[in-house]
Amino acid sequence: MRHTLSILGFLALATTVLADTTYRSRPDLSPPHLNITIPCDARCASGYLFVSPFTTYGEPDDRVSYQVAPYILDSTGDLVWSGFGYFAGWTGNLQAARYQGKDVLFSFEGLHNGNHGHGHGHHTLLDDHYNVVKVLRAGGHRVSDKHEFEIIDEKTALFQIYEPTQRDLTAWGGDDEQTWIVDARFQELDIATGKVVFEWSSLDHVSPNESALPLPRGLAGIGRSSATAWDYFHINSIIKGSDGHYLLSARHASTIFKINGTDGSVIWRLGGNRSDFTLGDGVRFGFQHHARYFNEDPQGSGEVISLFDNSVYGSESAGNGNEIRINPYSRGKYIKLDHVAKTASLVRAIEPPSVAVPDLSKGDPPILTKSQGSLQSLPNGGDFVNWGSEGQITECDADGTPIFHAFFGKDFLRDKLQNYRAFRYNWTGYSPEDPAVFAESSSEGSVRLFVSWNGDTVTTSWRFSWAEETDSITTDGKTVTTTVWKNKTVARRGFETSTRIYQPKEVRIVSVKAEALGAGDSVLGVSSSVVVQKALTKMVETVGNDRLVGQETLGFGIEL
Ligand SMILES: *[C@@H]1O[C@H](CO)[C@@H](O)[C@H](O)[C@H]1NC(C)=O
Ligand SMILES: *[C@@H]1O[C@H](CO)[C@@H](O)[C@H](O)[C@H]1NC(C)=O
Ligand SMILES: *[C@@H]1O[C@H](CO)[C@@H](O)[C@H](O)[C@H]1NC(C)=O
Ligand SMILES: *[C@@H]1O[C@H](CO)[C@@H](O)[C@H](O)[C@H]1NC(C)=O
Ligand SMILES: *[C@@H]1O[C@H](CO)[C@@H](O)[C@H](O)[C@H]1NC(C)=O
Ligand SMILES: *[C@@H]1O[C@H](CO)[C@@H](O)[C@H](O)[C@H]1NC(C)=O
Repeated sequence: MRHTLSILGFLALATTVLADTTYRSRPDLSPPHLNITIPCDARCASGYLFVSPFTTYGEPDDRVSYQVAPYILDSTGDLVWSGFGYFAGWTGNLQAARYQGKDVLFSFEGLHNGNHGHGHGHHTLLDDHYNVVKVLRAGGHRVSDKHEFEIIDEKTALFQIYEPTQRDLTAWGGDDEQTWIVDARFQELDIATGKVVFEWSSLDHVSPNESALPLPRGLAGIGRSSATAWDYFHINSIIKGSDGHYLLSARHASTIFKINGTDGSVIWRLGGNRSDFTLGDGVRFGFQHHARYFNEDPQGSGEVISLFDNSVYGSESAGNGNEIRINPYSRGKYIKLDHVAKTASLVRAIEPPSVAVPDLSKGDPPILTKSQGSLQSLPNGGDFVNWGSEGQITECDADGTPIFHAFFGKDFLRDKLQNYRAFRYNWTGYSPEDPAVFAESSSEGSVRLFVSWNGDTVTTSWRFSWAEETDSITTDGKTVTTTVWKNKTVARRGFETSTRIYQPKEVRIVSVKAEALGAGDSVLGVSSSVVVQKALTKMVETVGNDRLVGQETLGFGIEL
């Protein structure tokens, strides 16, 4: 049987390729194309990149083919797992974590209000087979926000909520109709039962006096309706210390708070207008994100916290007087807190790499991240910095030397992708999908085979098998078809592995499948059988993007 020709009519029409067919075996996937300006070498930490770049250009069209989703990528930008189809809507803060003794992934999933920087939705936990373990919504009658999610002791979850509420705001310059304010709340919730273990409300403990964005300026909501409530505080990170208290970052107060885990009172403030610490040189920060303990020492002089210091607000509308700038550019910072002397000193700052400087001769600042951002301390002493709204990531070694830098998009998308947080984590994933195979014959008498398995990290080699049909004429003039199964095993190369097999003229290759092989050549998965398609030159040209060029330089790319 010749299945080969039956679909050619359709394919011949498909010469205008709409999707970004980075991978021949998965033309339906359009992952981000990192523009890597400093490639990783052996100094980079091991592990994959966990990112969720987003753009206002949501659906692929003829100019933009990028699917907004959570992604696991390797250090070359090659895909490990596309979460497209696993998560819907706006997603962010994809991370690997541990829950009840098992490896999990989690991500925020919902809608994103870009004007206010709020997200409304829930958090979803997946296991290492990418199956849903838990969908976690806020306790009570509340809606989770996107900014924070952290699993504590493999048991509880910390996240926050922006709840509009009405108050008399005349003391803060509000008129009679400006009565809406955002109560920034956070909850710690038992993941298994959904029971709220602790809940905190900013309005119960922090006066709107501490806001860096006063109501009359209208920069954080004008307060006339629940939708435009004044976001005076804006929690964007919370972590629980081993002493049971919480470390909280409030972007719109430009302050880090320590919150008592028993009664919710403020234990101390760092930064802002009521700092309990005298700030040393370089410590002052503003509109910061992602505060974490680096070294806990709650009473002593050796506590160190890390944060991403944006130092800017409203730069997208600079020129109309709405920009607030604390420092000339954004940086990662490690700050030492001396609880005895009540001083805060800069341990080190993670500077933007010079490769990303737009134009120094014009005095342009290095990266100015007007929103979002994260700073992850890597186990090897290095740092992984995510420049939020500016759509860039940097890894630095322990000396602060940039050893990896990438933009999330290139060409048309170069300045249009943003990414809320980014991480490097180890991850072992088992795909719940079938391996995807694609086979294409060329006029030169060879067939190219491609295989991929979205999310799989354990396959070490692929065994392609195919049926070769040969016709022979018997002495009485009958045609007899002989079928021989052949196979070829090739080492796995990244997301998509490809190889070429020779096809003699008299032979028809009618069926191709691939088996994923793991340790000891155990079979981990088998694809369905596919027919060989005739290569369409125009289509292949369209596919000539950097990823395939990159594969070619590795020696297994386009061989036509
Ligand atoms: C906040 O500021 C107002 C007006 O300046 C003042 O009357 C009030 O005492 C302050 N409240 C707090 C809690 O600091
Ligand atoms: C601190 O006070 C100044 C002057 O009153 C004000 O402009 C600023 O927004 C306040 N808040 C912060 C967090 O700096
Ligand atoms: C936290 O609050 C509890 C209850 O009010 C109090 O006993 C404890 O001393 C507080 N801890 C700190 C570090 O302030
Ligand atoms: C990648 O980034 C560099 C550095 O900013 C830039 O010069 C180059 O044009 C970018 N490449 C693409 C394809 O966008
Ligand atoms: C990944 O695991 C290796 C081996 O345990 C470890 O050395 C490395 O620090 C881990 N990488 C990350 C990013 O955690
Ligand atoms: C692969 O082909 C070889 C002969 O080249 C054969 O000995 C072997 O059994 C085949 N393996 C499978 C799994 O079909």
